[in-house]
Amino acid sequence: MSIISKDISKAIELLEAEELVAIPTETVYGLAGNIYSEKAIKLIFETKKRPFFNPLIVHIASIDLLPTIVSHVPLKAKLLAEAFWPGPLTLVLPKNQHIPDLITAGKNTVAVRIPNHPTALELLKRLEFPLAAPSANPFGSISPTTAQHVNDYFENDITMVLDGGSCQRGIESTIIGFNNEEPIIYRLGSTPIEAIEAVVGTIEIKNKKQITPDAPGMLDRHYAPKTQTILVENLSEALQIHQGKQIGILTFKTPKTNTNVAFQIVLSETQNLQEAASKLYDALHQLDKQELDLIIAERFPDFGLGKSINDRLQRATVQA
Ligand code: TXA
Ligand code: MG
Repeated sequence: MSIISKDISKAIELLEAEELVAIPTETVYGLAGNIYSEKAIKLIFETKKRPFFNPLIVHIASIDLLPTIVSHVPLKAKLLAEAFWPGPLTLVLPKNQHIPDLITAGKNTVAVRIPNHPTALELLKRLEFPLAAPSANPFGSISPTTAQHVNDYFENDITMVLDGGSCQRGIESTIIGFNNEEPIIYRLGSTPIEAIEAVVGTIEIKNKKQITPDAPGMLDRHYAPKTQTILVENLSEALQIHQGKQIGILTFKTPKTNTNVAFQIVLSETQNLQEAASKLYDALHQLDKQELDLIIAERFPDFGLGKSINDRLQRATVQA
């Protein structure tokens, strides 16, 4: 039985009853619950099998609500919010005392963003509380960019996926924290680093688990298909090495011909990085269904969204 529906009023009813609803955003689908309901928040962690040390992002409808979530907004955070909200940018700021510890994993900061998706915005505007929403996938697996992806994961666990079509951006929000009022990138994402630097100047990236206790969710292995997956610079060479296997390939712009590739996906024949980003996770979902021995992904150009795509492919290909 499908749990996919476009009924926003039904979603509101469920969320008000402290249940979970998977919601569309411009980045990926989120598994949403009332931030003030202990029952709903615990259910988010249980449903995703997510460890409690990994804090959640709070989603709000308008920048006017920011003071109800955070206790201080550095100048550069204000500039970034004004430049990119609603949109795929999450700010980690000192939390307001009303934010439950479960949301922040006991930290004194909270992650917050305004999603840029008409359905999500209408839902948030009609609700009297913000929504906590991690990506709607089991912990560590590929994030969902369609209602069907969520249905495949959680059909038996949740009552409703609010259908908002396929996500236009396709990879998660860029996350920015602050140290002495200066911004730091905790997670590369759908807002390219160059766009951020145009607003606040040169910015440091600290997105490795080992060096960033401030970003506890940045695990090395994440976004991972079940099929063994590798990331390579030189596709032809990798195909040589792995001859004889059932191979699927994921490339940016150039299809492979005359090789014994069992399945291939080209993300953007016109070399458009935004198009590639929006198709990335669906491609990984598809490749993972083909019963392949190996998925070979080709590294993207290392700028703009290419940098964010490489980050996801890197984490998808770390061995368990
Ligand atoms: O695009 C997105 O951001 C999506 C959509 C649904 O909004 N959400 C998403 O949530 O990607 P999730 O839970 O999959 O990733 C949230 C990340 C985690 O890595 C978490 O550790 C980090 O945000 N985070 C949350 N609160 C934090 C905090 N107070 N300090 C540092 N990192 C935080
Ligand atoms: Mg996630």
